[in-house]
Amino acid sequence: GGPVIAVDGPAAAGKGTLAKRLAQALSLPYLDTGLLYRAVGRLALDAGQDPAAPAEAFAQKLSPEDLARTDLRAPEVAQAASKVAAQPAVRQALVETQRRFAGECGAVLDGRDIGTVIFPDADVKLFITASPATRALRRFLQLGGDQSAPNAQAQVAEMEEALKVRDAADSGRKTAPLQVAADAQVIETDTLSAEDVLAQALAFARR
Ligand code: CDP
Repeated sequence: GGPVIAVDGPAAAGKGTLAKRLAQALSLPYLDTGLLYRAVGRLALDAGQDPAAPAEAFAQKLSPEDLARTDLRAPEVAQAASKVAAQPAVRQALVETQRRFAGECGAVLDGRDIGTVIFPDADVKLFITASPATRALRRFLQLGGDQSAPNAQAQVAEMEEALKVRDAADSGRKTAPLQVAADAQVIETDTLSAEDVLAQALAFARR
C-alpha cells in the first residue's frame, strides 16, 4: 500500500497547513484528526453537557455531517475537544476510523498521537512545533484577527494563554498524551515559511 505519514504537534503549530500540502504533493488522502475531537466536543456542547462528562456516545455516532460543520474552529470548541479527547473511551471509539482512513492507499494524518498510538509504524513521522507566541499569532490571524486593531496585542496574549492551557492538558493526560515519537523528525517552524516547512517535510519523506 501507499505510505502513512504522521504529522503531530501542539496547537496551532501549522500541522494542518503542512499536512494538506504534503498530501497534495504526494497525491495522498488527508485527514485532520483534530476535527473528529472537535466534532465530539461540539456535540457535547450542543447537548448542554460539560465536555468533561462521558462523551463516547457522541464519538460512536459521529456522522460525515457532524464533521462538515462550519462551526468547529471556534476557540471554545477547541477547549471542548481537548476535554473530550482526554477520555479513553472517546479516543478508543475513534481509533478504527483513523486506521481505516489510511487503508491500502496510505494517507497523511495530522493530530497529537498519530505517530505514537494510531500508526506507531508510520513510514514518516513529523513533529511540527513553534513557540507559543508564534502559534498564538498564527491562530489569531487564521481566525480573522486584525493585527492593527487597538486591542490586537491583548487578544493575541489571550490566545497564547488558551493555547498553553490546552497544550498542558494535551501533554499531561494519561491516555495518548501529546509527545514526540522516538523516531519522529522535529521541525521547529518559528522562522520558517509554509513553503520552507513543506520542503523540509518532503526531504524527510523522500529519504
Ligand atoms: O488546530 P489545533 O492544533 O489548535 O487543534 P486540533 O488539531 O483541531 O485539535 C483539537 C484538540 O483535539 C486538541 O487540543 C487535542 O486535545 C485533541 N486531539 C487529540 O487529542 N488527538 C488528535 N489526534 C487530534 C486532536
